[in-house]
Amino acid sequence: MSESTAAAQVEEVMASAMAELEATVDLERLEGWRVSYLGRRGKLTQILRGLGGLSPNERRAVGAAANRLKTLLEDSLDNREAAIKQAASEGNSDKNAIDVTLPGWPAAQGGLHPTTKIVREILGVFHSMGFQVAEGPEVEWDRYNFEMLNIPKEHPARDAFNTLWVDYYDENGEMPMLLRTHTSPVQGRYMEQNKPPIRIVSPGNSYRYEATDATHEWQFTQIEGLAVDRGITFANLKGTLFEFARRIFGQERKVRFRCDFFPFVEPGVDMSIDCFSCEGKGCRICSDTGWIEIMGAGMVHPKVLEAAGLDPYIYTGFAFGMGPERIAMLKYGIDDIRLFHANDLRFLKQF
Ligand code: DAH
Repeated sequence: MSESTAAAQVEEVMASAMAELEATVDLERLEGWRVSYLGRRGKLTQILRGLGGLSPNERRAVGAAANRLKTLLEDSLDNREAAIKQAASEGNSDKNAIDVTLPGWPAAQGGLHPTTKIVREILGVFHSMGFQVAEGPEVEWDRYNFEMLNIPKEHPARDAFNTLWVDYYDENGEMPMLLRTHTSPVQGRYMEQNKPPIRIVSPGNSYRYEATDATHEWQFTQIEGLAVDRGITFANLKGTLFEFARRIFGQERKVRFRCDFFPFVEPGVDMSIDCFSCEGKGCRICSDTGWIEIMGAGMVHPKVLEAAGLDPYIYTGFAFGMGPERIAMLKYGIDDIRLFHANDLRFLKQF
């Protein structure tokens, strides 16, 4: 037996063995197949026996191929046997049979992410009060994220925004680009391009260089709001945000405003609602205070209007900023903000 014919035989045996195996649908015929290829006089067995008559080089090459084929045939035999037994136990020994009367697989349906849902719900409330949606970029200039919001370079208020800087330098060797730390930069962008009356809400991602825990993420969503016009007062702010709170957390909600500091508003406030869980008596959700903080707000600082080219003696406005994940956590009793980005279907499917 020359090398070329021996090698060709291995190929032929492989082709016919696999084709025949494919057509074997019962255990009896499978045993016949085994005997004809792997049995004592089987076709492959004979090739292996004939190896002794080959030259050492040929023996090495053909022997390796024949042994690989042996493993392949043995594995295929096991698989086929398992498949035949499986089909028999399912009462279907013909693997090609299709029962057209069986019901189809239901199509897997996707759903909206809980953040998307709450953002849409919040935007809907403001939409009904005449606010439009305006968006801004997530990679932002220092100018819009800080400077135009009355947070100059070297101002300590910058420390509060643990900033992720983008590795890009201006001619002064400073880093003027960052991942926006809040959605407030949309205020300046919008006022530069649009004259009052302005009523906008601006949803989107924000980023902070921060360690994560149950209430902190380094990427989170915010919704910014801005209303600028002649004669806007704190009463407008209060009425708008009170209506928002009642629409999201229930008509019986009370609101509380306390002084707070944000460089871009004057006066600045934090807004709380009375605890919807304990009705203000004190519980775990409100840390026994009866109140839950839901957002920062205030009257737009004259310097912010000026920086955007608006005359603060003619125009006034109010602004607010909130975290929809926090709103969703309160509303749905979610106790860890990291769940929003953990991609766990057991969590996501609940919304
Ligand atoms: N940008 C603030 C933050 O991320 C939230 C905020 C507070 C926005 C007061 C406002 C505002 O527009 O008036 O902490």
